[in-house]
Amino acid sequence: MPVSLKQSFPVELILGIQWGDEGKGKIVDLLGETFDVVARYQGGPNAGHTVKIDGKTFILHLIPSGILRPHTQCYIGNGVVVNPEALLHEIDELETAGIEVMDRLFISTHAHLILPYHVAIDKASEASAKGNKIGTTGRGIGPAYSDKINRVGVRMGDLINGDAWKTLVARNVAEKNDILSKLYGEQGVDEDQVVNIIETYLEKVKDRIVDISIKLNQDMAFGKKVLLEGAQGTLLDVDFGTYPYVTSSNTTIGGVATGLGLSPRKIDRIIGIVKAYTTRVGNGPFPTELDNEVGERLRQQGGEFGATTGRPRRCGWFDSVVARYSVMINDIDVLALTKLDVLDSFDEIKVCTGYEYQGQEVDAFPSGGCGIEAYTPLYETLPGWKQSLAHIRTFEELPQEAQAYIKRLEELVGVPVGIVSVGPGRDETIVLENYKK
Ligand code: GDP
Ligand code: IMO
Ligand code: MG
Repeated sequence: MPVSLKQSFPVELILGIQWGDEGKGKIVDLLGETFDVVARYQGGPNAGHTVKIDGKTFILHLIPSGILRPHTQCYIGNGVVVNPEALLHEIDELETAGIEVMDRLFISTHAHLILPYHVAIDKASEASAKGNKIGTTGRGIGPAYSDKINRVGVRMGDLINGDAWKTLVARNVAEKNDILSKLYGEQGVDEDQVVNIIETYLEKVKDRIVDISIKLNQDMAFGKKVLLEGAQGTLLDVDFGTYPYVTSSNTTIGGVATGLGLSPRKIDRIIGIVKAYTTRVGNGPFPTELDNEVGERLRQQGGEFGATTGRPRRCGWFDSVVARYSVMINDIDVLALTKLDVLDSFDEIKVCTGYEYQGQEVDAFPSGGCGIEAYTPLYETLPGWKQSLAHIRTFEELPQEAQAYIKRLEELVGVPVGIVSVGPGRDETIVLENYKK
């Protein structure tokens, strides 16, 4: 039976509150039913948002997951870094699957391009780093955002205003090729090839490049309903995450305003997406990580392999310190708890309630996010439910142990759970009264 979600607010935000891969794609697709517009505000093709509909799997990297709802318009905001080849590939894949894209997709004039030299520098830098590899997705994210902040980037708007972008590209190629050869001993990129990539891209998308901030604000003035789709997660935020093991954008609430030109006062509801346990892909601190057979079991049961790179995700128990911190930073109204079914077979489930630091118990995330390695998680153990949840559609039908698990997480995190996901499919979802308020 399809899940009914007729109770959305005019502007709602979805963001991840762990280290990414919380199941944002599934929830955006699910809620997309009641929205006119779905807009991405940060990140780039490092994201991998998986949506499963009627046995078909779609992995979205740049295009908002709302594209799978035929009535929506989908926007890529200025805060997103766009690889033109990756975007064309994604459009092509969707069109091949029979999904109409080009009449519904708009890209910000202010969004920056990821070009082959960004990807080459990302990879070269990761390959050469001694001891502090970030474990990036190798998609050129850091170098593209660096160019943006350094004011040398190429923006979509440059491409539709004459040929001056070719001079900008030539300057960038020369500089980056110097970096690639002199710093990393790598081969540079070919300028003609970069120009060719952009020209091919323009043939397809030229008409879709518009000022998204104006378009979105007009939409809201006309009463259109807008769903904002975040990428990555709070602990990967460049300011508030586990720096330097983070991505290069603001994945938290502030990124919405700067990534779309939308006042934070316009957001009516903030939905935090959270997995029933924790995963992380790439390097960096992860207090509740289980580098043992329990972690391996979570990985296998949860299919925890990266949607973008295929890398095995690191797995661990739910960390309520992380969740509380994310709730504070983002002022989360309600949680969507995903992948509860992955815990179906466990006799016991542990939850981290706080950390111990120098003999003292602390319940807040370490200030500045630094030095977290010195903190030891404290756990409490809850009984498992030892049965499949995949077919359950109401809270009341859930086994007592699963209800108790949800209630305990709500207590520890301090925010109600409004949606519980018990499988990757659209329908494998429980909508609680908390969501309908
Ligand atoms: P995102 O990046 O936050 O969109 O998440 P990903 O798509 O990278 O990873 C989430 C994975 O879990 C995807 O393979 C989803 O299909 C899957 N998934 C989402 N919700 C559920 C759920 O409730 N149960 C199970 N078993 N899988 C889920
Ligand atoms: P979604 O939107 C999980 C991680 C990388 C690496 C760090 C920096 O699917 O949740 P980057 O390529 O961004 O410079 O890599 O961030 N990372 C993600 N981890 N989910 C993602 O996106 C991620 N995007 C980047 O693994 O640790
Ligand atoms: Mg993902």
